Amino acid sequence: MDLSPSPRSRLLVFLVSLFALIYNLSDHLPKYHAVETPRAPVDAQKIQAKCLAIKSAPGASPLFLKREVSDRFEVGTNSTLISNATILMGRGNETHTLHGDLYLDKGIVKAIGSLSHLNRANVLNLSVINANGAWVTPGLVDLHTHLGLMSAPFTAGAFDVSSTKGPILPHLRNIDGLNTHDDGFQLAIAGGVTSVQVLSGSVNNIGGQAIVVKLRQTSEGSSLAMVVEPPYNLNGSADGSTRWRHLQQACGETPSEYGNRPDAIWALRSAYAEARNIVAAQDAYCQKAEAGLWDSLGAFPENLRFEMLVDVLRGKVKVTSQCQGAVDIDALVRLTNEFEFPVASIQHASEAWLVPGLVNRTWGGTPAIALFATNYRYDLNSYRGSEFAPRVLADAGISVAMKSAHPVVNSRYLLQEAQRAHYYGLPPYLALASITSVPAAAIGLDHRIGSLHEGADADVVLWDSNPLQLGATPVHVWIDGKLQIPLPPRSDREGPIVGGGKEDKKWARFPSVPDWEKERKQAIEWEGLPPLTTRKQSGNVVFLNVRNVWSGNADGKLQKVHRSGSDLVAVTVRGGRIVCVGDKIACGTDELDANEYVDLDGGSVVPGMMTFGSPLGLEEIRSEPSTGNGPPFDAFAEPIPAILNDPGALGSAMDALMFGTRNALTAYRSGVTLGTAALGKPASLGSSTNVIAGMSVTFSTGSSHAMERGAIVQKFVALHVAIHRPDAFSKKSQVSVSSQIAGLRRLLSGWENQETDTGKWFKRAAEGVVPLVIDVGNADIMATLLILKAEIENRFGSRIRMVFSGAAEAHILAQEIRAASVGVILDLRPVVGGWDDRRTLPGPPLTNDTTLAVLFREGVKVGLKCREAQDVRNMRFDLTRAMLTSNGLISKDEAYALVSNNLEDLLGVTMESDLVAYAGGDLFEASSKTAAVISAQRGQVDIF
Ligand SMILES: *[C@@H]1O[C@H](CO)[C@@H](O)[C@H](O)[C@H]1NC(C)=O
Ligand SMILES: *[C@@H]1O[C@H](CO)[C@@H](O)[C@H](O)[C@H]1NC(C)=O
Ligand SMILES: *[C@@H]1O[C@H](CO)[C@@H](O)[C@H](O)[C@H]1NC(C)=O
Ligand SMILES: *[C@@H]1O[C@H](CO)[C@@H](O)[C@H](O)[C@H]1NC(C)=O
Ligand SMILES: *[C@@H]1O[C@H](CO)[C@@H](O)[C@H](O)[C@H]1NC(C)=O
Repeated sequence: MDLSPSPRSRLLVFLVSLFALIYNLSDHLPKYHAVETPRAPVDAQKIQAKCLAIKSAPGASPLFLKREVSDRFEVGTNSTLISNATILMGRGNETHTLHGDLYLDKGIVKAIGSLSHLNRANVLNLSVINANGAWVTPGLVDLHTHLGLMSAPFTAGAFDVSSTKGPILPHLRNIDGLNTHDDGFQLAIAGGVTSVQVLSGSVNNIGGQAIVVKLRQTSEGSSLAMVVEPPYNLNGSADGSTRWRHLQQACGETPSEYGNRPDAIWALRSAYAEARNIVAAQDAYCQKAEAGLWDSLGAFPENLRFEMLVDVLRGKVKVTSQCQGAVDIDALVRLTNEFEFPVASIQHASEAWLVPGLVNRTWGGTPAIALFATNYRYDLNSYRGSEFAPRVLADAGISVAMKSAHPVVNSRYLLQEAQRAHYYGLPPYLALASITSVPAAAIGLDHRIGSLHEGADADVVLWDSNPLQLGATPVHVWIDGKLQIPLPPRSDREGPIVGGGKEDKKWARFPSVPDWEKERKQAIEWEGLPPLTTRKQSGNVVFLNVRNVWSGNADGKLQKVHRSGSDLVAVTVRGGRIVCVGDKIACGTDELDANEYVDLDGGSVVPGMMTFGSPLGLEEIRSEPSTGNGPPFDAFAEPIPAILNDPGALGSAMDALMFGTRNALTAYRSGVTLGTAALGKPASLGSSTNVIAGMSVTFSTGSSHAMERGAIVQKFVALHVAIHRPDAFSKKSQVSVSSQIAGLRRLLSGWENQETDTGKWFKRAAEGVVPLVIDVGNADIMATLLILKAEIENRFGSRIRMVFSGAAEAHILAQEIRAASVGVILDLRPVVGGWDDRRTLPGPPLTNDTTLAVLFREGVKVGLKCREAQDVRNMRFDLTRAMLTSNGLISKDEAYALVSNNLEDLLGVTMESDLVAYAGGDLFEASSKTAAVISAQRGQVDIF
């Protein structure tokens, strides 16, 4: 029996055996050389059973849906009747929605429909919820997370997401690293997510065996108890069916630690070749065993390192592959055809939409494509990713799943990925399927999760609005029939209000969305890089059917001049300035020679938003250093070259501006006309930010170069510093908080030579000439900074214009911050973060308030910021969510100020903004789309 056909695989077997010898694992290793056995061994029956089992196909037994009690049922859980709900089944189209009742019992959806006949008196411990017509969906399923392996708050001690032990690690099991105390679990439930696939990182080509877990706390409290249908140690389930296993692979540029693209595919091919040999050996062995030919048969051929891949080849594994570029998808498709195994989903498949025919050629059936809605251009592979990809793939008949890759996107915001995909053209029922039934099918668990049918798991979400409405929030969440949201009442916690202000019937309907056909066709035609140029009109432009208009008042400040509710008006613009607001006749064509008409269809003309906090304007692709400014010197961490003759190496973002980046132009087309950039990159996992981050600059996001009229709006804006605890994962040398504060005190005290930029700008900050913006998350550090501020001000009799940026824990010190007249710039979309940020207020449905709401109520001046350049385009969606989750505390105008007037005041930006014309609604409505930018600075209208 020759099991080692090539010298290479013999070598591999040798190496594996050597490894085993060293680690004393030889008992578990392959017995390739048959031992003589004279007759049927005592365990012959066991062997024959095993030979049968390896060929069994996984999947639920037909009896599954007839079960009486879920294997996950927690004794003591009430039965629940949700009455009068709009129930989305989760798969299919509108024919799969019904108005009626849902009965949950013993962890199972027991009945759906009109259940008025249910004899409530007969059910012990029945909780009854009247949904009053509200939407009920299956619990959301997130196909791609690192929850539990990279637990919040992030610490080095709870980082089990990637092993450094090599490229091919199919023997590692994610269950062995699953932390049961990740703060991310509850946050995800608060977003309606009930089940997630937990994947290892993508630095390995095969990082380990994935698992599917439910996010609720179990009474056992173990990692294993969280796993849905755990295949481990159970060669099947109680009813004899075989369970799916899960595996993640990665190709392309992400696993670069172990070589280039061809290396990655070779690593995979050699591993599968090894597994294929074992499959052949097992099949040959079993053929003999089944025929009773026990002579010289020996032990069953097995290898603990490769047994997972053997199961892949036997079709027992739902494989997910992270392959982004077309080149990577091509390599994956060839791999599947060479070794004949199916792939259930392709993750981060940024270019799949450009090659749907290629995706279709995957062996064993077309995989689901798992995408972000708009999170692209973070690396080269994702540079051609498109917001239109979900729709284009759906049009090609390919299943689309939206995913979070938590913590890349917080799993709590999975629903927003679907909302955005819907906004850009994915039909509503497919958008909902993309976070329910599609991912459930891609992990082989659609018999129990991802859709509501009799016999399914009782994972259910009751929403405060139609789930595709921006800001939709769960009112109730059940997992396995057990109520998760709202949290059980506690003496120190008042029940949060959810969905305040959504009584109007419009919230129950699907939002209408703009038509993107023209843009979608263009995106396809240009292979993901459509030109983002605009048509410039310096003549007269008349906007028709306008509901709201903002215009300059006597002091040059913008203010609303036309209130909604009244009739629609016409707005005439000449040379980039509004010259007439009124009825169509007065402002229309007659005496004016209109060069162009733009119908806003009930839209509005409002000041452009400003973004701050990301490297927008300083780089094109985050992970490609050659496309950006590069890392500035960090005076707290490294020696500064003498040539700079400045111990702080204080730089100015103005010197590093890049215009015309795709992120900036996309932001411009999304209503964000101003950007304020500082040199220090926002702190992210594994990279700490510079303590001294230099002077920021404000620029026009739509300009094409720095010397164009109006491109640089303000050369020197604010002085930026960052004070943080050491980053959990940073490889850079780390500086203590006390040293950072000591440095700051010294600089603000004016002890640095004022002929250096560092000395000069810190003096101006101490005198209150420029704002001092401090990136800080933690309340204790903020308190230290407030004390330092008072100390410096007392000494100089000055007033420092201090602003906290990030400030996740600012609510703890809200009164003190207000008393010190310190402003706060919060994250538009709070991130799951490190220790410094862990006490942030998550908001409804977990807490009544968000950090924003507390500061707002306290009267602190607040602005909002965005950390990622490719995310700036989503400002309006995030702003809408921030406003809606304040339960009516923050009005539209007040919300708008958070990203315009307030932010400009906090940073000290004084220029007049451009105006943005939205068609089809205002910027808080999903029905609207930007139509033009009106720029007085540049004397023109940019028409999209
Ligand atoms: C909805 O789904 C049903 C059943 O799957 C199908 O017969 C019907 O044609 C679909 N309707 C639409 C509008 O796609
Ligand atoms: C369970 O049902 C009983 C009876 O209806 C009710 O009193 C109790 O509050 C319910 N428990 C929970 C946790 O909802
Ligand atoms: C169900 O809810 C709708 C919407 O709120 C309401 O109009 C209707 O009266 C309710 N029906 C019952 C039977 O409660
Ligand atoms: C992909 O395959 C599906 C299902 O077989 C088919 O409906 C679709 O037209 C194919 N798309 C392309 C682009 O080949
Ligand atoms: C919750 O927040 C709302 C809006 O800010 C406020 O009106 C209400 O009093 C708060 N309720 C509780 C229980 O704190």
